[in-house]
Amino acid sequence: MGLPEERVRSGSGSRGQEEAGAGGRARSWSPPPEVSRSAHVPSLQRYRELHRRSVEEPREFWGDIAKEFYWKTPCPGPFLRYNFDVTKGKIFIEWMKGATTNICYNVLDRNVHEKKLGDKVAFYWEGNEPGETTQITYHQLLVQVCQFSNVLRKQGIQKGDRVAIYMPMIPELVVAMLACARIGALHSIVFAGFSSESLCERILDSSCSLLITTDAFYRGEKLVNLKELADEALQKCQEKGFPVRCCIVVKHLGRAELGMGDSTSQSPPIKRSCPDVQISWNQGIDLWWHELMQEAGDECEPEWCDAEDPLFILYTSGSTGKPKGVVHTVGGYMLYVATTFKYVFDFHAEDVFWCTADIGWITGHSYVTYGPLANGATSVLFEGIPTYPDVNRLWSIVDKYKVTKFYTAPTAIRLLMKFGDEPVTKHSRASLQVLGTVGEPINPEAWLWYHRVVGAQRCPIVDTFWQTETGGHMLTPLPGATPMKPGSATFPFFGVAPAILNESGEELEGEAEGYLLLRTETSWLEVFKQPWPGIMRTVYGNHERFETTYFKKFPGYYVTGDGCQRDQDGYYWITGRIDDMLNVSVREKIGPIATPDYIQNAPGLPKTRSGKIMRRVLRKIAQNDHDLGDMSTVADPSVISHLFSHRCLTIQ
Ligand code: WT7
Repeated sequence: MGLPEERVRSGSGSRGQEEAGAGGRARSWSPPPEVSRSAHVPSLQRYRELHRRSVEEPREFWGDIAKEFYWKTPCPGPFLRYNFDVTKGKIFIEWMKGATTNICYNVLDRNVHEKKLGDKVAFYWEGNEPGETTQITYHQLLVQVCQFSNVLRKQGIQKGDRVAIYMPMIPELVVAMLACARIGALHSIVFAGFSSESLCERILDSSCSLLITTDAFYRGEKLVNLKELADEALQKCQEKGFPVRCCIVVKHLGRAELGMGDSTSQSPPIKRSCPDVQISWNQGIDLWWHELMQEAGDECEPEWCDAEDPLFILYTSGSTGKPKGVVHTVGGYMLYVATTFKYVFDFHAEDVFWCTADIGWITGHSYVTYGPLANGATSVLFEGIPTYPDVNRLWSIVDKYKVTKFYTAPTAIRLLMKFGDEPVTKHSRASLQVLGTVGEPINPEAWLWYHRVVGAQRCPIVDTFWQTETGGHMLTPLPGATPMKPGSATFPFFGVAPAILNESGEELEGEAEGYLLLRTETSWLEVFKQPWPGIMRTVYGNHERFETTYFKKFPGYYVTGDGCQRDQDGYYWITGRIDDMLNVSVREKIGPIATPDYIQNAPGLPKTRSGKIMRRVLRKIAQNDHDLGDMSTVADPSVISHLFSHRCLTIQ
């Protein structure tokens, strides 16, 4: 398994330990004793015991966890059935098939009625504009979700139907997704920063019968007229022969005009006026959210779903081709996000958790909505950006709500690092206990700054490696147990059995190979050998693409597509997407036909936000074809014009 020997001294606070041998990578940071003392997993040894049981006896391990949830009917057959080997037939993964439950019931009704958390704040909402705030308790959230579930049912939405959601980070987004889950409809959330083309493509791919959107919103200084984009998308759908018959619109920027007489919602006041926003209205299709909600009853029987019924679709941009509709299912996803949230952030009832990710990404699905709510947690829901109105914003929010666990992306850390220590250190941050990162490898310099400046050397950092496809964390430290190494996502979470393969599909084991890897400076493939409950089940409407993308190349393994190294202590180091690396020896392997025509230096490549390179775009640049299609998923569009202007003119 490549688990580490306990070579790092514990109990030494958070001082870094320089160990002989492997340069910077040997430096590790012990979990602070005050964190370990109250942690769910207080030592590396305990982690190892739990992890060993979770992979050797996954049915028993997850079976115990499943007992903490409500099941309408228990699992009638095997707890887990799967096939990971394409040579033996169709790939499938079934956890608790035949058991029935409802995830919305588990994260809301049970918290309100059984656990008596009705008056606990589920979300502190912090708007784009400082001072625009509201909060919503578990009871209020349940009432709104029931109302909106009734609205959806009245519009004819039934179990199995797909509902597209295109909204900024406002409480109604959480209400909308949970209402879908309550009635067994699949939500397909499209990030509100995406274009109308992206929205149209996603609506068509899964034939969504209804769209939920918002009038407009501010992102920093920028006004986004979301309704206009939604209209364009629906127009395009219509042109392609797929008319969407209903569009529900939240009045968000125009909220102040409403006065919102609704007693259950303390809707956020909007301070900033926006006289320029013109909302066009399509009679017969568009409906105002607040009008529908006023008429809706606040009780709604959940749809009892099979554990293996689909819960949602979330599109992830592949490096080639059109986006894949990643499908997650009700039961396994629920167990996995609840459990990762509890252990990885070492959740305790009094925590105030803040994940800065947008709900439009998997990070937001799992660690803004489902994971925290499944644990009865209080979270911050933030509409804005780290630099508006200035770079103090994140830290002033941390102090305002006394955030204890803070989860963000390396890009945000690097951005804020540029402004120096002072914007951070002038805030107290005394509430912070655990810091997290996700999205790409974090460079040690950024890790050390996050640790020293943001966390004042007191807070463990959980560098969580995972994917849209995995549903939740895969490689990650546990705050009270794992000695950290800056830049390493450390060890597998419970139920996760990683391996590293070479090009021939052979598993590389232990320290010797680790040395070999470093010596040849080559990265090998990160794979997982057995299913965990949160793994995706299929690509929507294209199971073959699911099998080809993740299982075909190396039968028996789920292939992440990331390169990885394992050091002599068993720590995993993700080196980035493998399809991004140019294999320099390609000419010898394939023959002279594979000799590059021209090598162009580039300041950057067209990458998605999680760093996947958009090969489709590179191909067009090589062909000097400026018709690039939808570019809304590219993180930095400026590199494209540079690549065009510096391309070699001899290539036609
Ligand atoms: C890809 C998945 C998981 C939610 C955000 C991105 C990269 C993610 C880490 C990390 C190194 C990471 C990988 C992965 N990645 N977290 N902690 N260390 N790399 O979701 O868009 O599905 O992208 O993000 O390359 O495959 P995604």
